[in-house]
This record gives sequence, structure tokens and C-alpha cells, in this order.
Amino acid sequence: MKRTLGTCYYPEQWPRAIWEDDAARMADLGLTWVRIGEFAWTRLEPTPGELRFDWLDEAIAVLGAAGLRVVLGTPTATPPRWMLTRHPDMLAMDAEGRARRFGSRRHYCFSHPGYLGECRRIVTLLAERYGRNPHVAAWQTDNEYGCHDTAISYSDAARAAFRGWLRRAYPGAGNDGDIAALNRAWGNVFWSMDYAGFDEIDLPNLTVTEPNPAHVLAFRRFSSDQVVAFNRAQVDIIRSLSDAPVSHNYMGRVTEFDHFATGADLDIATWDSYPLGFLEDRVGATPAQQRHYARQGDPDFQAFHHDLYRAVGRAQGAHRQGHGRWWVMEQQPGPVNWAPYNPAPLPGMVRLWTWEAFAHGAEAVCYFRWRQAPFAQEQLHAGMLRPDGVAAQAFHEAEAVAAELADAPDVAQTQAPVALVFDYGSEWMWQIQPHGAGLSYFDLVLAHYRALRRLGLSVDILPPTTRDFAGYALVLAPGLIVVPEDLKSALNACNAQVLIGPRTAARDADFTLPVPLPPDWPGLGVTVSRLESLRPDMPVTLAGGGAVTGWLEQLEGTAPAVLTSEDGAVVAQRAGHVTYMGGWGDAAALHRLLSELCDLAGLETLDLPEGVRVRDTGTERFWFNHAPHPVDTVAGTLPVAGVRRVAI
Ligand code: GAL
Repeated sequence: MKRTLGTCYYPEQWPRAIWEDDAARMADLGLTWVRIGEFAWTRLEPTPGELRFDWLDEAIAVLGAAGLRVVLGTPTATPPRWMLTRHPDMLAMDAEGRARRFGSRRHYCFSHPGYLGECRRIVTLLAERYGRNPHVAAWQTDNEYGCHDTAISYSDAARAAFRGWLRRAYPGAGNDGDIAALNRAWGNVFWSMDYAGFDEIDLPNLTVTEPNPAHVLAFRRFSSDQVVAFNRAQVDIIRSLSDAPVSHNYMGRVTEFDHFATGADLDIATWDSYPLGFLEDRVGATPAQQRHYARQGDPDFQAFHHDLYRAVGRAQGAHRQGHGRWWVMEQQPGPVNWAPYNPAPLPGMVRLWTWEAFAHGAEAVCYFRWRQAPFAQEQLHAGMLRPDGVAAQAFHEAEAVAAELADAPDVAQTQAPVALVFDYGSEWMWQIQPHGAGLSYFDLVLAHYRALRRLGLSVDILPPTTRDFAGYALVLAPGLIVVPEDLKSALNACNAQVLIGPRTAARDADFTLPVPLPPDWPGLGVTVSRLESLRPDMPVTLAGGGAVTGWLEQLEGTAPAVLTSEDGAVVAQRAGHVTYMGGWGDAAALHRLLSELCDLAGLETLDLPEGVRVRDTGTERFWFNHAPHPVDTVAGTLPVAGVRRVAI
């Protein structure tokens, strides 16, 4: 399969007279894909039941006639204003019990049966009309589930659905659940929180002090399942009427629902990559790093999501877990409008971001958006074209990539030597019980990913359901808080060096601290006898370099120590090929620990200069320079925004 390019287009926002010209320019530029329709509900159905599909028929025909392939989005992220008149209680509620209002987008509660019915109706109409259209080559469900904090809702509809979900989670005789089993599992004897029946259970917001973590965890799992069910309802309809692949565009660092679970229902995972916006609002970088990478973006954050969404894409045919189909559906083209600061990318960065996605196995990269809109919320968001239609940065850089693609190899995915497990459930559990301000599972996993990338390693991210680790030399599962026995066995049985901890296997599935104490790992001989969180200004220095920050465990047991603090406390222990790390290592500590594990695993590493990253596809090694200046590497000098592709 060829690597391809595309863009996001809103024909309903532009005069009919320019559609042909737009389509011709897209095709001339070398674009293959054009995504349309995902916000167009009021133009498809201006009043309830008044259907206007002629313009969409025409838009698809115009784009198709130019040789473009259409990705058709379902418009369910933007319910029209009349929908609220029909379903006044369809709005999501925030944790303070306030309804989120009309006037932007994503104003719906995933649990509202009336709105779900409306979504089924519009998706059926679209799939009936376009399911066999030769130009509609792929579908997108909704737009960015969970973006703008929309996956979790404390509405009446959510409460009713949550009670039903709990009944099924704790099944009893007949249709009612087993409330005694729920009370036991949650430990409701504590603070006299026992319930006599499921209809007494509320949502875990507005409690006087913290709610029971088991209650919150159940609600988070429920909220995730609601997103999965909402998506599945659309997918089932589309599949019954169309053979084109179905996708969804995920966002960066949105973790409120289990993307592996939605991904299992879809053909292609796509995501929306805004490197400069993310650096300002979700990477967690220091002000100095934000300044340094202001026009390039964080060197690892996009790559992390590329690898994550490759795993979210459903593995098909010969592909194994961790290697599904995936695209970038929206690539930042220039300055965005929504971050605290919105600088322009350095010249060449849009090209670099595009090649980086291909290096991680993307089939397609589409730029958001074709032309900058002079109206409404995103008027200061760049497009490939300026509002007056003149070509802007992304247009020129996409043109360069299109020329380079002509003699580049096809999409390539190969197993990386290193696997890193990522689990949405662990993210929720850490959020529910961080134990120290700012401690986040996502950040812990990202810190390990960064350390691996600084050593020049390519990484596969794997879901926690993985049991086959064949072919990996190194497997990491830091912070994976629930570890079923068969996963422990699979990790014990594999041939890789395995790194676990801190907080790996620290709770059972009901959020109870297990006895024997964690990690209770067969053959390891390590017990976490106490844990503490550390203030940011009290790092614990390690003998030999590096420090533990934020989280520190006291380890007991027979396994030999491999890291100790300066005052002699054991921080990491190893038995056989399994290493337990009892603290949150800083960059220097992780570098030390992972370098040693790579030596033990026989993995060759690189000592990459700051800002330089490498990715292997199996036939090519890519070098990327994210630094704001040229950098000398063993592969030669990389200019600013430099990309080097070397056959291997
Ligand atoms: C994405 C979204 C697009 C657009 C874009 C702006 O999150 O899917 O519709 O709003 O951000 O950067």
C-alpha cells in the first residue's frame, strides 16, 4: 500500500462556485484523500426530518471527479440546535452538576437514549445514500470522542444507565444484580456506605469528601463503555450498508475511554496531531522546554501517539497486536488558535511531522484544513490555503512530501525490539488515587518512552490484553496497576528483559490492595512494604547517578538490589529477567536503568544528541531533527527540521 496524503474540507462552508477549483488544486498537489461532512448536520437536516442531501451528493461527485477519495464523517459531534428542543435533557452534565450548553460542539451525553436514536437515524440515512458510492472510500464516526472533556457526564441519563451497568457487573438472581456482592467488592462497610439496592447508587460526584475509589473506578469503566457502545451503534449501521473501512479520529492525550475497545470495532485508527498546540497545553513540559521546542513541538509526544494508535488500530490478517492500520487524520498545518500561545512552525516542520508519521507506519497523513475559515471559532487557525485561497506553509510542504513519496517505499510496519504496555484502566486508577499531586500514569509511561527513544530505540506500544511477547528483547510495564495472573505468567515466560514498577500489580480489579502485598510476582521475591509520595522539592538521589522523584516504595525481599539510594535503601531489584523499580526514576535514572537492560537484552543503543530521534521501519532508518538548530549525528549533519531516510 502506498503512503498517501489528504486534507479536511468543508464544502458547506464555501461557495459552490469554487468547489471544482478546490478539488482540482487538491488533486494537482498530489492529495489522495479528502475528509468531509463531520460537522454538517444542520446543512443535511435544517429542521427535523427536512433532508437536504443534494449538496453533499454534488460535493462528493465533484471531489470524486477530480480523482479524490472521500472519507465521509458522520455529523454526530454537532447536534443542531433543534435537537435540544426535541431532547432538552441530552446535554452532558459536568461534575458540579451543570449542563454543558449549546454554542460550540460535542454537547451531548453518551448515555442519552433519545440522542443515540437520532444518531442512528442520521447515520442510517447517510449509509443508505452513500454506502455504495464509488467515491466514498472510508468512513469516520463522529469527531474526537472525549475531546473538550466530554466522555464523562453526570446526567440523569448517565445515572440510570450506570445502575443498569452495575447490575450487569454484579449479576444476581433474576434481573436484579447482587447488591451484597457489590458492597463486598467495594468495601462499603468502611464509613457505612452499604447499599440495599442498585437504585440507591448515585454517580460519584458532589460527595462531601472523596468518594470510594471503587465507586469512581466503576463509573469510569462505565463511562468508557458508553463511548464504545455509542461508536459501535454507528459502526454496525455503516457496516450493514457499506464495505468501505470505518475509522475514528482520536485526540492527543484524551484517555477517558479505552481506545483499544473502540478500536476493536473499527478498521482504521486515526488521530489528530497538533504538535505545537500539544506542547503548550498537554505535554507537561517545563517553560524552558516549551520555549526550546515552541516551533517544533515535543520530540516524543507525537511519536508516542503514533505508536499508541498503531496499536489501537485493529490488528488484521498477518498483522500482530500492536500493528493495526492507522492514519493521521488532522495534521497541524501552521499556527493553531486554541493553545495558550500559538506560534508558527519552523519552515520544514510540517514536512518533518508528515514523514515522522510515515516512519511509524501511517498509511495516510491528512492536513487540517484545506482553507482557513474567516469566520467563527477557528478564524485564526491556519489551513493549507489562506482565507484568500493563496497557498500557505502546509501547502508547500505537502507538495514537497508528495514529490518525495513518488520514489519512497510503501507503508511498512515491522515489529520493534521493545514493547511498552499502555493501559487506559491504569490511567483512571492513578487519576482516582494519585497519592501525590501531579502524579500521572500517562506521564510515567511517556517518561519511559522518552528514555527509550533517547537510546535510539523503536518501540511498539501494546494493550494490556497482550499475552504473546515473542520477538521482543525488552518489555516494559511501569505503573500497570492491575496485572492478571496470566499476564504475570506470560511476562515470566517470555525471553525478554522485563521492567515493572513502580505501582505495577498494586491493586486487584476492584481497587483493593491485595494481600500478599504487591507485586506478589511469582519467582521475583520483591514485596512493596511501604510507599510514599515525595514533594517535588525532595528528590531522593541514587548512588551512581540519577534520582527518584514523586513516588518512592520501600522494597523488601530476596531479589538482588540493582539500584540503591545514596543512603543505601534498595530502589530496584532483579530476579532472573524481571526487574522491579520501586520509584519514579528521573530522566538520568531511567537512562541508566534502561541502558543496562538493553545491554542485558543484547540491544544496540545510540547516544542521540538532544532533539534528534530515530525510527526504523524494517527497510528504512529515519533520522529527525527536532532541535531549533542543525545537529551533527553519526548519519551526518541534520539541518533544522531535517529528515534523513536511509535504507537498511
Ligand atoms: C481538532 C478538531 C478539528 C479542529 C481542530 C483545530 O481537535 O477535530 O475539528 O477543531 O482540532 O485544531
